[in-house]
Amino acid sequence: MSVDAAPAPGTASQPRRAGAADLGIDLSDRDFWSRPPAERHAVFDRLRVERPFAFFAEPEIPNLPSGPGYHAVTRYADLEAISSQPAVFCSGEGAVSIQDIPADLNEFYGSLISMDDPRHAKIRRIVAKTFTPRMLERVVDSVAGIVDDVLARVRRQAAEGDGTFDVVADLAAPIPLRVICDMMGIPEQDRAMVLAKSNVILSGGDPELVEDEEDPLTGVLMAGIELAALMERLAAERLERPTDDLTTALVTTEVEGEKLTHQEIASFFILLLVAGNETTRNAISQGLLALQEHPDQRARWIADPGLTRTAVEEIVRWTSPVTWMRRTATRDGEVNGHPFTAGDKFLLFYAAANRDPEVFADPHRFDLARDPNPHVGFGSKGPHFCLGAHLARRELAVTFARVFEQLPDLEITGPPARLRSSFVNGLKRLPARLADSR
Ligand code: HEM
Repeated sequence: MSVDAAPAPGTASQPRRAGAADLGIDLSDRDFWSRPPAERHAVFDRLRVERPFAFFAEPEIPNLPSGPGYHAVTRYADLEAISSQPAVFCSGEGAVSIQDIPADLNEFYGSLISMDDPRHAKIRRIVAKTFTPRMLERVVDSVAGIVDDVLARVRRQAAEGDGTFDVVADLAAPIPLRVICDMMGIPEQDRAMVLAKSNVILSGGDPELVEDEEDPLTGVLMAGIELAALMERLAAERLERPTDDLTTALVTTEVEGEKLTHQEIASFFILLLVAGNETTRNAISQGLLALQEHPDQRARWIADPGLTRTAVEEIVRWTSPVTWMRRTATRDGEVNGHPFTAGDKFLLFYAAANRDPEVFADPHRFDLARDPNPHVGFGSKGPHFCLGAHLARRELAVTFARVFEQLPDLEITGPPARLRSSFVNGLKRLPARLADSR
């Protein structure tokens, strides 16, 4: 893997902007993203082999000028080469979404994930100091209580009704939301708003979740404004009356004499919400779906709880809740034989790299004992690797263990409603029932 300033002599370079129209593939077509995962993976398989840096025009978003297009990086080795060289492939130029984010949105969404060094290193040091093992242990301890409570509600709801419930709304969504809200100290009465707004932010323009499909950006901006207002209020309260929550740690922590401003805390909170909520929720819901589709694996895990460590990693690889992140070239060069110029956008398709047969034997097999499993579901090498990976692993481990124990009669009863988003591999609904509640 290499990034050279100029093409190496004799390198068999691919054309810089080879599209994939001749293969009948367009990753910017929104409908592609509501197709079942197996169909999407078949397309990634072709791209990896036939056009590993395929170039696509950008999807149109009302009120945003379309940019120059992007390269879809689908091979593991290419993704790692790009992710591990943040000085050449940055995150801060116009953000990590496909389109450059307008300045007014960046005010709310311009946290860690779309920053580069030295600013990134500094803010990450401050927040990493608050994500201390002690703080995490406290949260992790409370995860079991939260999961038990959510599952007990599911059992009650099923018993009082006809036995049915929705895995997404009733089981998978409340767990990570409550964990993050507890961690930040969000008051009970604000939590429904927090869930609704984080849904809007990550909807990817899905018509069911965006109020005005013609103008999704305004909805996203408004959601950011409301969440930021809540957080600024809370930060001010914690300064006056400190508690032991993360918000208190964020308002008081100093690194080299510098503290986060309330605005920075608000953007970080929004990042935590979107990064920690939808991701974990989709790993839970699609993990349960995968277990239903692979009853042998489910039975194996229940019989051997020692499988949990590898099982959780396989669920993250299999579901890849974050489909991609963007990087932007800061200069001209070449990566693994592919030439690029400054300003080129690269979408790092974690979902595709996670099925690369060069790295994963029999990649389309769901194998809870897969080991080693160097998946990039939490990101690849580089400074942006998921800050919440430890917490997410714990949430998943506890959730599945408790579901096996407390809801052994859980059955998925119908196909999921998929979120039409290229960015988040998500489910909107997944019908289920508790067989013993009928
Ligand atoms: C299964 C669950 C999760 C998945 C699949 C996931 C995935 C990711 C990915 C792919 C990235 C970007 C990596 C990169 O650009 O190199 C990321 C970054 C991040 N994640 Fe997670 N994540 C999950 C859970 C969480 C949780 C629970 C939290 C916190 C509560 C969290 C907080 C963050 C933060 C703050 C970043 C930005 C780090 C930075 O830019 O320095 N994530 N995550």
